[in-house]
Amino acid sequence: MKVFTDPKKLQKWCAARKLAGRKIALVPTMGYLHEGHLSLIQKAKAKRADEIVVSVFVNPVQFCPGEDYEKYPRDEKADLAKCRAAGATAVFFPTPKNMYLDRHSVYVCEEDLSKGLCGARRPGHFRGVCTVVAKLFNLTHPDFAVFGQKDYQQVQVIRRMVRDLNFDLDIVMAPIVREPSGLARSSRNTYLSAEEKEKALAISRGLRALKPNSKLSTLNSQLKSAGLRIDYVECVDAQTLEPRKKVAKGCCVLVAAYDGKTRLIDNILI
Ligand code: PAF
Repeated sequence: MKVFTDPKKLQKWCAARKLAGRKIALVPTMGYLHEGHLSLIQKAKAKRADEIVVSVFVNPVQFCPGEDYEKYPRDEKADLAKCRAAGATAVFFPTPKNMYLDRHSVYVCEEDLSKGLCGARRPGHFRGVCTVVAKLFNLTHPDFAVFGQKDYQQVQVIRRMVRDLNFDLDIVMAPIVREPSGLARSSRNTYLSAEEKEKALAISRGLRALKPNSKLSTLNSQLKSAGLRIDYVECVDAQTLEPRKKVAKGCCVLVAAYDGKTRLIDNILI
């Protein structure tokens, strides 16, 4: 497995692999890898990628002031071992300094799908995501890139960026991977105490119970009575992300809620 920290070296290697006719998959992550990330690598394998490039980068630009950028969990050594065991062929560990050069001043903004949901609560977040993902696409020129459904809005925003900026690749969405309890896997789960983990289960339970015509007010009450602080509970059209009054086929119901100080997200496609 190749390990890169220098963007230029990664770019050169990917270009040579591409020229040799190899099919490249990109798996962008912020590290502290768990089963969810490993499922993205599995997905890339299942889609017969010859080269699977995993990027591990806690992207400062997608964190808002006061968020957990500094304390976001990091473990390079463990991530490397997990990538190797999972079958990645290259890992990219850039530093903020070599991703964002002095006086970096160009950003990518998606201005439709990123307006609501997390975009409304985390101003600048999707600008940071689109910028770093566009840079990773330019560095690796993948045939496809794999993202998890847990960040459903992110996947839709990136698909729109790919369409509107004519990136030549496919975006593959992999299903949410859950702990046996039902809790969606996330690097941030490491912040949760045992008691908070128990409380968090109201989210996956509540989402799983939804059916066409279910009332979102029931889900809201379930989350509140579990002791969670709701950031949003919304039903949207799964493609346009426009709000829908009724839970119905073709919708996605998304939740963001604070469990103590930890913000958790989860969703379900109806
Ligand atoms: O989903 C994530 O972990 C991040 O938003 C991503 C796509 C790696 C960009 O930093």
